[in-house]
Amino acid sequence: MNPLFAAMSVFVVALSVPVVKANEPAPALMPWPAEIKMQSGRFRLDSGLRLAVDGQVSDRMAGAATRFLRRLDERTGLFLAQNRISTADRDSTAQIRLACHRPGQLELFEDESYRLTITPAGVELSAVTDIGILRGLETLLQCLAADQDGYYLPALQIDDAPRFPWRGLMLDVCRHFMPMEVIKRNLDGMAMMKMNVFHWHLSEDQGFRIECKTFPKLHEMGSDGFYFTHAQVREVIAYAADRGIRVIPEFDMPGHATSWFVGYPELASAPGPYEIVRSWGIMDPVMNPIREETYEFLDRFLAEMTALFPDDYFHIGGDENNGKQWNANPEIQAFMQAHGIPDNHALQMHFNNRILELLTKYGKKMVGWDEILHPGMPRNIVIQSWRGKEALIQAARQGYQSILSNGYYIDLMQPTDFHYLNDPLPADTPLTADEAKRILGGEATSWAELVTPETVDSRIWPRTAAIAERLWSPATVQELDDLYRRLNRIDFLLETVGLTHRRNTELMLRRLADGGDIEPLRTLIDVVEPVKIYNRHRQGKTFTSYSPYTRAADAAHADQPVARNFRRLVQDFLQQRDRTQAEQIRLLLARWQANDAALQKTLHRSPISRDVAPLSKSLALIADHGLQAMDRLERGKHLTAKELDAARLDLQQAKQPAAECELMVVSAIEALVESAATKAKSR
Ligand code: ACM
Repeated sequence: MNPLFAAMSVFVVALSVPVVKANEPAPALMPWPAEIKMQSGRFRLDSGLRLAVDGQVSDRMAGAATRFLRRLDERTGLFLAQNRISTADRDSTAQIRLACHRPGQLELFEDESYRLTITPAGVELSAVTDIGILRGLETLLQCLAADQDGYYLPALQIDDAPRFPWRGLMLDVCRHFMPMEVIKRNLDGMAMMKMNVFHWHLSEDQGFRIECKTFPKLHEMGSDGFYFTHAQVREVIAYAADRGIRVIPEFDMPGHATSWFVGYPELASAPGPYEIVRSWGIMDPVMNPIREETYEFLDRFLAEMTALFPDDYFHIGGDENNGKQWNANPEIQAFMQAHGIPDNHALQMHFNNRILELLTKYGKKMVGWDEILHPGMPRNIVIQSWRGKEALIQAARQGYQSILSNGYYIDLMQPTDFHYLNDPLPADTPLTADEAKRILGGEATSWAELVTPETVDSRIWPRTAAIAERLWSPATVQELDDLYRRLNRIDFLLETVGLTHRRNTELMLRRLADGGDIEPLRTLIDVVEPVKIYNRHRQGKTFTSYSPYTRAADAAHADQPVARNFRRLVQDFLQQRDRTQAEQIRLLLARWQANDAALQKTLHRSPISRDVAPLSKSLALIADHGLQAMDRLERGKHLTAKELDAARLDLQQAKQPAAECELMVVSAIEALVESAATKAKSR
């Protein structure tokens, strides 16, 4: 028991009436806590609710308590009496009491644990640090439930702490610029999911996205005017700090740096001139690692940027240098020869070591993508593994701290369970216990080639909630049905902090329907996903920074719930042959069969939507085959050879992507058809 609550608990015990009742059902929490005990009884919420603080109360804690009350009254409609919570709100008779021992530091390994106790008489939330209180308040908001008598919090006790100390989201604001409101609402989403590192990818071939006072041509010539001022950067850092989130900037070097060279071509390894890149891919321009002027420039640059960003860690990128400019530059080749530098990776290590000296001078620790792993690098750098798990393991074995991003590339539109089951430290890890301690956690990466401010939230959420749970919750929390049950709820709650992953889809569908009825489009989009990995670039269109990202593939999400639920339903039906399941399947198939005709009006009025025509037609055709298969299965009959051939042909066709999308119910309908072909059974 937290000593701060010693007096309070006397009060709680005095008020609680001992009743023998069943325990409350567990709320849909994400991330799932380390320990939870459901108890019996409900704490009722009404407008008399008051909140008080205790212990060493920081402004951050008071601010979080105030935001908590506003989020609570927004969801409940209760007119709560309290406005801003201050450090002086210490009324020990308040029903919700928060107590912490000390303000937390925004640094790696800071204590984020908390204990949450809900009884019918009230709520106690205690933590070592105010950051723990923030984490607990998010849990508490997720506990909010309702019944016929109104709103309540179920009685429970939670003891919670993260499994990994580094739980991040990387946001690329370069390929497409992401304005302040995108950053802030995603910080709110991160806070809800107890994530604690915002990795801000600020420079790229396609844009230099931060004001640089020392070298103003960086943002003036490298950003088309889309960059963050110092004042905005400070605002983001403060906003993140208020939510217990560290901000780590990334300045990608020596490659991915064309936008730097627009204003300062002398930094590059070939003469230039350079322009902001408008296309996607790996570019040749790379910093010149043999000129002292490069390091003098970077020294002054880093002096400014390390002073602006307070975090201990600083990311230098380091990825995807193709070395072509180095190979073609005779002076660089001569330098390598003279210094016995055998290859480009070793030359990049030379560059990285020079940057490390500078960062060390400015009191920073270096983070980089896994390319910075090289035998000559000191052990105090952090490796971010993206090309495979091997770098993570190698790095940890060699004594480096490392974080995992391979498997958390949310821009690749892969399903939630793929990311969820991707564990930085799986049960069969080859690492020893000491090596395993060097695995700090992971980061979801939101690359923005095909992502705009309108779609970015739908690419990040809700899948990143599953990654957040992997990084916070015990390794044993792995049950997929339970994940999806909770994710469904969290998906909605994430909207309540301003994220636009669902509502922007509505807007996009209206645009696609040119203001007309969106239902037929929605019915189609619900079972369609953009093609995965990097395949969207291979479907015939060449995408650039000024392409439209407003088509069906942009409106469609990854891991569409309607399609996922249908696949599950079919799987269950084929095992259980339940009549209700059959009815649900037939209803969906009938809707899809009829949808193509309903969609024609939209396609007619709105040319932008027309590329979905083949998907819609395929869906109608295979739904028809699915209905036929259901009919036979239920009557204990087979499909004829001719029917089966026709179905297989259409199913095969339906597997082809169109409009850079794929239908996500083909395999399930195929399973129905094949089942009706081979072992029709009577029920
Ligand atoms: C990366 O995805 N190039 C780090």
